[in-house]
Amino acid sequence: SWSMQTLIEIEVEKIRSQVGDRKVLCALSGGVDSSVVAALIHRAIGDQLTCIFVDHGLLRKFEVESVVDTFSNQFHMNFIKVDARTRFLDKLKGVTDPEQKRKIIGNEFIYVFDEESAKLEGIDFLAQGTIYADIIESGTATKEVIKSHHNVGGLPEDMEFELIEPLKALFKDEVRAVGAELGLPSEIVHRQPFPGPGLGVRVLGEITEEKLDIVREADWILRDEIAKAGLDREIWQYFAILPDIRSVGVRNEKRSYDYAVGLRAVHSVDGMTADWARIPWDILEKISTRITTEVDHVNRVVYDITGKPPGTIEWE
Ligand code: XMP
Repeated sequence: SWSMQTLIEIEVEKIRSQVGDRKVLCALSGGVDSSVVAALIHRAIGDQLTCIFVDHGLLRKFEVESVVDTFSNQFHMNFIKVDARTRFLDKLKGVTDPEQKRKIIGNEFIYVFDEESAKLEGIDFLAQGTIYADIIESGTATKEVIKSHHNVGGLPEDMEFELIEPLKALFKDEVRAVGAELGLPSEIVHRQPFPGPGLGVRVLGEITEEKLDIVREADWILRDEIAKAGLDREIWQYFAILPDIRSVGVRNEKRSYDYAVGLRAVHSVDGMTADWARIPWDILEKISTRITTEVDHVNRVVYDITGKPPGTIEWE
C-alpha cells in the first residue's frame, strides 16, 4: 500500500545515512522479525549486507529450504548457511534437563555465529530484529524467569559492532506488512511463533536424531492438515511434541511398544496467556490417523487441553 511504501522509503533512507558505505551483518533465523530486517536492509544497501543462517538441526520440516530459497535464490543476498547440525547434536548428547538444553543451544548458537562472523572482514554493524514489543517487555523485566528464552537476538555483548535496529518502532502487524511489501513469501511473513531452541524443546528429555525426525514429521502433518482445514491463520500457534514416553499398542494384530506424540494448538495474543484451540474432532482424527500411519514408531496421539496458566505453551 501507499503508506507502507512511504514507511519503507523513510526507513531505507535512514539505513543508508546510518550505514554509508560500510557493511552490515545479520543473523537470520527465518522468523518474521529477522527476515523482515534482512529484506529491508537489503533493499537499502544491497551487497553491503551479509546474512548468516545457522542450521542447528532443530528446525521444522522444509524450513531450511524455504529460507535458502527466499534469501539466496530469490533475493540474491550475500547469504551464508552454516550446517551446524552435528555440532549441536554432539553437544546435546545425554542432556535431559530443559534449562540445560536451552543454555547449550543458546551458547552454541553464539559460538557458531562468532566463528562465522570472525571470517568476514570489515563489518561495522550488526542488524537486529528488535520490534516495539521487545522494548516494552524488557522495560518491565522484573517478572520471574519461568524459562530462559533464547532467540537470535541473544548475541554476545562484547561483539564490536554497532547495532542497527530498523524495526524498533514497529508493531508486529506492521512488521508483517513491511515484509509483504518487500516481497517476502507469505509463509515467512505469517510464520507462527517458533522458539529459538526450536525442536530441541519439543523433544522432551534427551535429543536424538531419531526423535527429531519423528517430531518433525508429526509436526508437518499437523501443519499440513491445519492449513488444509483453513485454520492456519485462525490458530495462533500449533505444533507437535515428543514426550519421552512409549506405550503399548496394537498394529496388524501384533503388539507394538512405541512413542506417543502430543499435539498442542493455542489461541493467544502475546503468548503470555493462552487457551487451547477447539479443533474440530474430525480434523483431529485425520491428523491422528495420518501421524500413526505415516510416522514410524508412533502408535498413539494425544491432544493437550491445558490453558496457560497453568501450562506453558511449550512443554519444556
Ligand atoms: P511458553 O512456553 O513460555 O512460550 O508459554 C510462550 C511463547 O514463547 C515462545 N518461546 C520462545 N520464543 N525463544 C523464543 O524466541 C525461546 O526460547 C522461547 N521459548 C518459548 C513459545 O513458542 C510461545 O510462543
